[in-house]
Amino acid sequence: MHLNKNKYIIYLLFIVVVSLFWTCSPKFGYGVKSLLFDGVPDPYKVEVSIIKDSLLVKDSTSTNEISSTAIVKNLFNLHTPYKERECSKCHDRNNMDKPRLPSPELCNQCHEDFNNTYKVLHGPVASGDCTECHNPHQSKLKSLLKWSGQDICLQCHNMETLFIDEDHKEINDTSCTECHNPHGGDNINLLLVKQ
Ligand code: HEC
Ligand code: HEC
Ligand code: HEC
Ligand code: HEC
Ligand code: HEC
Repeated sequence: MHLNKNKYIIYLLFIVVVSLFWTCSPKFGYGVKSLLFDGVPDPYKVEVSIIKDSLLVKDSTSTNEISSTAIVKNLFNLHTPYKERECSKCHDRNNMDKPRLPSPELCNQCHEDFNNTYKVLHGPVASGDCTECHNPHQSKLKSLLKWSGQDICLQCHNMETLFIDEDHKEINDTSCTECHNPHGGDNINLLLVKQ
């Protein structure tokens, strides 16, 4: 009788401790749950991962490769040479981790050299930092962009100082590229239309 009561208390304590761990951290909770059950989504994994040197894509929440490929096709716009597996246009086969040419030469193999298009180049274009704004492989956004709307410009430009001038104080969330060309222009302000 006495022994049974002790056992009972130990069981209770065990349950309390387990349920504490279960809920306090999602990572630990995932660890515990995935030990016990199959198919618990890992909160620390990105939704999809591209398997290196392959266009096979795997949705981490699914074990079915075929259905997950379809999902990813909807999510990502693939850069044409990436989609067509022309990896060697940009990489040395024996050193896949980095591009085989500096930018913008890498990009200018196939794209127009903006030096020939514009009188003035935007700072990061002049320095060849195409990948500050573009993903070379794929993006969920149009034009392979890394951020949407104003965010792409606000990676480097400061809204506090911009919004105080006449030209910007009323733009609200108008995209910067409504008025500015992101690559270059006739003069330093990169305006799409002459003032
Ligand atoms: C248009 C040029 C281009 C093509 C085509 C291209 N890559 Fe890349 N890749 C890059 C650039 C540029 C980087 C460096 C990215 C950075 O520094 O932000 C890179 C980085 C990588 C990396 C390093 C890790 C990473 O993802 O940043 C791997 C691995 C890679 N590429 C594999 C591939 C494979 C496999 C293919 C073909 C299916 C491919 N690339 C096609 C331009 C390209
Ligand atoms: C091997 C040739 C090749 C190289 C190298 C290349 N591109 Fe492209 N790129 C293409 C083709 C082809 C398209 C599709 C053109 C079209 O649809 O008119 C394209 C399209 C794009 C687009 C538009 C995508 C869209 O969805 O509208 C961007 C942005 C771009 N490339 C950026 C880059 C950058 C940045 C680099 C250098 C890191 C680069 N490209 C290097 C061939 C290339
Ligand atoms: C400051 C950010 C930024 C940098 C740096 C940049 N781009 Fe872009 N790029 C953009 C944006 C934004 C668009 C989409 C333009 C639009 O939708 O009107 C774009 C569009 C493009 C396109 C699609 C066709 C077009 O002209 O609209 C290509 C190709 C391209 N960029 C290539 C490049 C290359 C090559 C470099 C490097 C020499 C580069 N970009 C550097 C922001 C940038
Ligand atoms: C990777 C950093 C970076 C990003 C992203 C960026 N810029 Fe710039 N931008 C610069 C640099 C650097 C200069 C040159 C500043 C200088 O010479 O004082 C510049 C200059 C400019 C200028 C000319 C005015 C001046 O002070 O020289 C305009 C206009 C401009 N950027 C607009 C934009 C727009 C619009 C976007 C988004 C499409 C954008 N920038 C995104 C770095 C960036
Ligand atoms: C409604 C059109 C419009 C929009 C939208 C716009 N700009 Fe401008 N911007 C201008 C004009 C016009 C000038 C030229 C000012 C001059 O000539 O003195 C300018 C000048 C600039 C300059 C250089 C002079 C300065 O004020 O520092 C930068 C940098 C700049 N814009 C960045 C941006 C960024 C970043 C965004 C988005 C958050 C943006 N602009 C959105 C019209 C616009």
